[in-house]
Amino acid sequence: MLAPAYLHDTAPGSGARVAPRSWLQSDAPALSLNGAWRFRLSPTAALPDDVAEVGLDDSGWDELPVPAHWVLQGDGAYGRPIYTNVQFPFPLDPPHVPDENPTGDYRRTFELPGDWPAGARVVLRFDGVESLYRVWLNGTEVGIATGSRLAQEFDVTDVVQPGTNLLAVRVHQWSPASYLEDQDQWWLPGIFRDVTLVARPSDGLRDVWLRTGWADGAGWIEPEVTADDSAFPVALRIPSLGVEAVWAGRSEVGRIEVGPVEPWTAENPRLHDATVASTGETVSLRLGFRSVEIRGDRFLVNGERVVFHGMNRHEAHPVRGRVFDEPHAREDLARMKRFNVNAIRTSHYPPHPRLLDLADELGFWVILECDLETHGFEKNGWIGNPSDDPAWRDAYLDRIERTVERDKNHPSIVMWSLGNESGTGANLAAMSAWVHARDTGRPVHYEGDYTGDYTDVYSRMYSTVPETEQIGTDGSTAPLLRCTPAQGARQRTKPFILCEYAHAMGNGPGALDQYEALVDAHPRLHGGFVWEWRDHGILTRTADGTPYYAYGGDFGEVVHDGNFVMDGMVLSDDTPTPGLYEFAEVAAPVRFAFDRTGGVTIENRRHSAPTDDLRFDWRAEHDGRVAASGVLAVPSIAAGSSVRVELPGLPVAPDAETWLTVEAVLATATPWAPEGHVVASAQDDRTPRPLSSTAPTAPRVTGWRDAEGTLALGSAVFEGGRLIELAGRAVSGPRLELFRAPTDNDEGGAYSDPAGSDGAVPGVSSASLWRAHGLDRLVHRQVAVQEAPGALRTLTRVSAADSALSLTVETLWTLVGDRLELRVEVEPSAGWPTVWPRVGVRFDLPDDGEPITGAEWFGLGPRESYPDSIRSARLGRYAATVDDLSVPYARPQETGHRSAVRELTVGGLALRALPDGRGRLPGFVLTRHTPQQIAAAAHPHELPASETTYLFLDAAQHGLGSRACGPDVWPEFSLRPEARTLRVRFGG
Ligand code: GAL
Repeated sequence: MLAPAYLHDTAPGSGARVAPRSWLQSDAPALSLNGAWRFRLSPTAALPDDVAEVGLDDSGWDELPVPAHWVLQGDGAYGRPIYTNVQFPFPLDPPHVPDENPTGDYRRTFELPGDWPAGARVVLRFDGVESLYRVWLNGTEVGIATGSRLAQEFDVTDVVQPGTNLLAVRVHQWSPASYLEDQDQWWLPGIFRDVTLVARPSDGLRDVWLRTGWADGAGWIEPEVTADDSAFPVALRIPSLGVEAVWAGRSEVGRIEVGPVEPWTAENPRLHDATVASTGETVSLRLGFRSVEIRGDRFLVNGERVVFHGMNRHEAHPVRGRVFDEPHAREDLARMKRFNVNAIRTSHYPPHPRLLDLADELGFWVILECDLETHGFEKNGWIGNPSDDPAWRDAYLDRIERTVERDKNHPSIVMWSLGNESGTGANLAAMSAWVHARDTGRPVHYEGDYTGDYTDVYSRMYSTVPETEQIGTDGSTAPLLRCTPAQGARQRTKPFILCEYAHAMGNGPGALDQYEALVDAHPRLHGGFVWEWRDHGILTRTADGTPYYAYGGDFGEVVHDGNFVMDGMVLSDDTPTPGLYEFAEVAAPVRFAFDRTGGVTIENRRHSAPTDDLRFDWRAEHDGRVAASGVLAVPSIAAGSSVRVELPGLPVAPDAETWLTVEAVLATATPWAPEGHVVASAQDDRTPRPLSSTAPTAPRVTGWRDAEGTLALGSAVFEGGRLIELAGRAVSGPRLELFRAPTDNDEGGAYSDPAGSDGAVPGVSSASLWRAHGLDRLVHRQVAVQEAPGALRTLTRVSAADSALSLTVETLWTLVGDRLELRVEVEPSAGWPTVWPRVGVRFDLPDDGEPITGAEWFGLGPRESYPDSIRSARLGRYAATVDDLSVPYARPQETGHRSAVRELTVGGLALRALPDGRGRLPGFVLTRHTPQQIAAAAHPHELPASETTYLFLDAAQHGLGSRACGPDVWPEFSLRPEARTLRVRFGG
């Protein structure tokens, strides 16, 4: 038996498909068909059509919930998820797919309500089914549809019957449409969004579009009502605006001036409840008045430039996959708001329709993207790419029509996106032409239109800082990627967005602030969308029941892309990463600039909202302890303006660091955050220089002689020059460490900047260079151990097997009063060819029945920071448990580094860090595992049991960058091999 012909056909569907329309709240009767369905899974698509038979005995079938993905049900009984980024998990043989094609047969009965209006048509709506499905009602075929994340209605009026009805749906995981759905995400088959039976009264509203506009304080509506004559008169009512328009016939439907009205913006998402009532149906909408416009190279809403501080948002949940859960989605969006996210790109398909209601309500600028990606053709030189093949034109147009029509009423949507990474071609251009004809009120985006032939904004992903700067700069002669000079000139006349940047995989990204600085400097640059909002981990258990978040390869996939799906600002379990805190800081809508004359200039960087919702708190701290605090009197600051405010006189302590912190906090609660939530903050160092420190300095030691055996210095005990005990506890070290467990960015090598400006060596990751040079396996040779009264000195040569490169490490322990000072001098040999991950020393603190519980420190915190991701760190006194000092990234990697530490207490050991010759302070990492152990684990649960806590004092760490899919660490934040000094004093 052959697989059915429709699995070799590029048509988007067939049968009683109904033209797309808005997803409206209506009082027309509807019956949810969500719930338990009969389910049978077959490994092949070559099947008889028995699923449709009314008399079929399905009592032996399983039950499966709708909505759900079958691979996430039944604990593996129905197959497992597959993760690929670009690769197709089936042969590139368009439009065909293999016979090995998991096929789910679904059946259920329902009772047609007896009270549905006479003469109403009956429509069956599927909001999302992956990937191709065929529908029968009472044994009669209704139709076939594709477009996994697109709604499809079928007219079933002629086949639905009074009383009991049998609905059967056959879903194939793979179909020709899969070639159009090659997004970087899990392949998750099944009926995963709602199924609804809807009555369509003959005098009802087939569709309603209330296009709104706003200018100069006044709003208007350009309504479009699609209905039969019998539906009229139709009335539009907006009680909050006193609007009531009654149209006797279709020809009367026309523009309505609503007069003075507050506009809708992402900052102030003012919505107005509206109803549109025909004789047979009333629909409810929430209107926001706003106008979107491109003027020259500016993207404007309500006449003001928009800067996107956006996130790429997939629908991903560790248990439900892409099944929508409204409370979770609402909380997720509220979380975005709390972190100063103001925009969402719905990568790479329309989300559940309710998400747009939430975006309207909470306030986000949304780029709504069509469900389209053919990335897997790139590997083959884009040969056969559907985007340029007339055979697929209908499918492309069908997709964009269904995208735009469903969501066209939402004020939050300010741009349509044709899809993602689908090469280029006539079908994309045709989609764009269709949108331009249908919706003149929103521009069209598609990143793959490099030359700007058919789209309205210039969009790129992962362009480097220098390249982005070139794009923003007038008069730059640099060629633009894949553009002729003329095409490049045209692109420069358009607003620019980074539809993806700052790849947030694992520990990172770095350089968020550098991109933000460009957006400040060049108005053509309109910000961008971080890749991406969430990790897509799937909650799984090991054989012994240990839970973990699975990624590619964890389900035995034939081809997969590993943990490339774990690249979010939020971990799979909703935990915000330090990268998200960094984003919140960089994207903060309020900025502070302190001056030396006792004032602070507060700048409102918002689109249009004033600062009336904010309160400005301040506090002064002496060595991290609050000495004074208050509230600043700040007048209302209009968007785009600044105000200078005098600061109160601060108490200054002669022997402590004095820092001023200013915070803009919410003066009252909002739907997304409580009163007091910090929107923006800044610190200023007010320490008098120099500090009148009375601490004695280490004396110059003379009289060295060779040392042997055990030696005591204060509370420290050494054996053979090695520390074995300190302050009554077993401690060994210090041992030089150059290695850190490579981050995903350290492991990134494929990316190279086409403009050649990122300094990356294409194809060779930093991590592979580190391993090649043995940084993870250093060995030590003690050269000298010497003692003098009150002092101990060691000299060690450190190198790696088969390497002539080396370092000399000198440690000098000196008693200074009752304190013990340690000075470590690290000096590399010439010729180190690679950046270093870190330069620091490790102390081992064995449990000895008393494991270290955590750390208290005075330094930067509270979260980890690295040279190019440090803007959100604040000086203060912090405490954290050992576990909380590390971030459980999906693949274990470097984590936990706290920068610029002044004081640190760990397990009764107190130390004070002293600046090196250039005033630099060390950082620390406190962890239960060595970098070598961490680097060997693929998941957190694979880390070995530990009986030791490791304290690293790092003179420096390498930056983070975003080379997992983007630029390498910027040179300024790269750790070049060089001599370094570490100085600490034990005993506080
Ligand atoms: C982009 C793509 C995204 C994602 C990202 C890397 O090229 O559009 O879907 O794959 O790279 O994580």
